Order: sequence, then structure tokens, then C-alpha cells
Amino acid sequence: MTKPLRVGLIGYGFMGRTHSNAYSQVNHFFDVPYQPQLKVICGLEKHVAEAFAKRWGYESVETDWRRVIERDDIDLVDICVPNNVHAEIAMAAAKAGKAVFCEKPLALNTAQAEQMAAAVEEAKVPNMVSFNYRRVPAVTLAKKLLDEGRLGRVFHYRSQFLQDWTISADVPQGGMATWRLDAKAAGSGVTGDLLAHCIDTAVWLNGGIRDVCAMTETFIKERKNVETGKVEPVNIDDACAFMCHFANGSLGLFESTRYARGHKALYTLELNGQKASLRWDLHDLHRLQYFDHADDSLVRGWRSVHISDSDMPYMGAWWVPGLQIGYEHTFIHQLADFLDGMGKGQPASPTFRDAVETQRVCDAILASAKSGQWVDVA
Ligand SMILES: NC(=O)c1ccc[n+]([C@@H]2O[C@H](COP(=O)([O-])OP(=O)(O)OC[C@H]3O[C@@H](n4cnc5c(N)ncnc54)[C@H](O)[C@@H]3O)[C@@H](O)[C@H]2O)c1
Repeated sequence: MTKPLRVGLIGYGFMGRTHSNAYSQVNHFFDVPYQPQLKVICGLEKHVAEAFAKRWGYESVETDWRRVIERDDIDLVDICVPNNVHAEIAMAAAKAGKAVFCEKPLALNTAQAEQMAAAVEEAKVPNMVSFNYRRVPAVTLAKKLLDEGRLGRVFHYRSQFLQDWTISADVPQGGMATWRLDAKAAGSGVTGDLLAHCIDTAVWLNGGIRDVCAMTETFIKERKNVETGKVEPVNIDDACAFMCHFANGSLGLFESTRYARGHKALYTLELNGQKASLRWDLHDLHRLQYFDHADDSLVRGWRSVHISDSDMPYMGAWWVPGLQIGYEHTFIHQLADFLDGMGKGQPASPTFRDAVETQRVCDAILASAKSGQWVDVA
């Protein structure tokens, strides 16, 4: 028997849509112990919130997130707003005894992330951070292969997240459409926005990162601020590259930029082990590239494994072998795991505490880029 879970979603933008879709779909495909009920959507503009509520089936709208927290008909607060608003909402929701689901990056910095993790732990409320790429079936399969020891000792981890949407100097900073370019709202640039995903997946697959040596660049130094109307310094990193040592002795190489002309969201990762290598690419997300040195040398080579059979992670819940799924399904998978964990009393990862580790690596990267020195993550 499923129990109702009354959802208050804050933020009707890009992530508000992916999460709403997940709430609508999860019970159609997964046997989870809760049935989400779309109680309230909250956003800054009432008429947009009302249109969103109508489209997705929310029962009511609010324009002040505090009202969502005060309501006693809400069990779960889902945070899909810019990064600088995460902490205040999450800590208030925890204090009110609500379960909290928060978009990434968890916070603006490690100190804030620590406070948020302490708040949900003190309140003993279920919590999770939306690092959804772990739940791409091909990436989950990579984790299984690694855990089975199929790669042997890992030597290298390589990852990139490339975009090209801020190359024009005419793109402004600040405001609702371009808050990612305003350090006050975003915390950092590509480090917190894109590399945080790469780091979360990397730590999950390959273990902790010991130390980092990074460089960042802000290619366009001044942009018009939508809110003030003035041309102001840009304080976020447009591009960041870092190398690192993992605790298991392997070497990491990471790069992210919004200036890679032609790339829109090219997230790739590759691991090279003693026995095998694997590679994944978001633009071909239903495939895992795998090379096994133990193969007969006459036919040895990179295999392109099409992830669609029902014995592949999550795929048993979907269609028939040969038919693939996409980006939106990663949010359904993470919600299914979150609800399952809530039912069992075993939190699904990444919890707020897990996400503090990613935040710590991000802070070390920014400190290293500033000092030009290697920085210990601890
Ligand atoms: N998991 C992922 O892959 C992924 C992808 C994109 C964004 N994100 C994260 O999701 C969060 C939201 O990003 P987005 O792309 O959906 O942004 P967006 O700009 O599309 O939407 C932001 C929403 O927040 C609302 N908002 C802003 N301030 C508010 C406030 N004080 N009270 C209530 N609502 C407020 C706006 O009305 C808007 O609906 C960010 O933390 C971002 O880093 C994660």
C-alpha cells in the first residue's frame, strides 16, 4: 500500500519541470512506498506559478517559500531555486520537520553545506541532493562494474563538462534568466554548476579526492547586470580545469567551460584500470563504452554496450530490450530511490552529508586557482 507524500515544490524553472515530471511518473513505473501528491508550486511570479500549476496538476500556488514551510499539509519540500536560496529554505524546512530534496550544488560553500547537513541530521528528516547523473543507467552500470573489480586497480579518471552559451559579451549577469553568471546567486561559475556534477560522480565511482591543483579563467571581465542596469565586474569562473589525486592513488583530470564553441552539454567521463577501461558521454547517454584487456586479442577492442535490457540498472522498469530512455528518466530514478529509502528508513545517496564532500572539493579548487598552489581537500 502506498502512502501519500504531499509535495511543496519551490521554483518553477528548468528543474521545477524535471522534478514535477518525476513526481507525475514515478508510480507508473516503480513500486515505491509513497505516492507523491502535488500540493503546491511556489515561484516569484503568481501568474507563472498558476500556469505551471495548471499544466502539471498542482493544487495551489504560493509566491513566498515561507508559506510552503508553514503549511501543515506539506510533507516534502523540494528546492529548485538558485543556489543562494537553498540554505535558508532547507534549514527552515528541516526545522519544520519536512523531508527535504535539494537541487545541486547543495550550498554556496562548504561552511554553509555543513550547516545544512547538520540541520537535516538534527531534525532527523529524509534528505537528498539532486546529483541526477548517478542515475543514468549507463553510469550506474559503470559503478557496478567498478565495484565488481572488473577494472582492477584504477590509474586514471578523466572528466569534462563543456558548454558554449556565455561566449557573447552581450549575455548579461544577474536576474532570473542569467543568475548563473552572478556570483552572489550562484556562488561560483562552472565549478559549482558543472564540475560539481563531475565531482559527485567521480567520488561515487572512484572514491575520495585527496588534493587538487586548479586554474580558472573569467574570459569576459565585465557584463551588464540585469538588476542594477550597470556594467559590473564578473566574479564567477567561466572555465576551470583541475588535476587531483584520488585517495586510491589514481590521478584525476577535470575540465569545464562555457566557452567550448559547439558543445552544449558535453559531460564525459573515462576511467582507465589495469584490466579494463570504461567511458561514458551524456550525448550518447544510453551507451557505455567498455574495453576489456582479457578479451581474445583477435577481437579485442572497445565495445559499445547499449543499455536497454531489463537486467541493466533501472531498465527493468521501462520498455522492452532495444528501446532506450533519456535525460528526464534520471530524475525519476533518483526520486524512486529517495522514496524507497524513505520507506526503508535507509537514506538514498547523495544525502546532504554526502554533498558536503563535493562542496569541499569545489572550495579546494577555487582556493587552489586563487593561490596557484596544490590544496588539500580535507
Ligand atoms: N541536477 C541538474 O542537472 C541541474 C540542472 C539545472 C539546474 N540545477 C540546479 O537547480 C537549481 C535551479 O536551477 P534552474 O535551472 O531550475 O533555474 P531556473 O532559473 O530555471 O529556475 C529558478 C526558479 O527559482 C525561482 N526562484 C528564484 N528565487 C526564488 C525565491 N526566493 N523564492 C521562490 N522561488 C524563487 C524562480 O521563480 C524560478 O522559477 C539551481 O540550484 C541549479 O544549480 C540542477
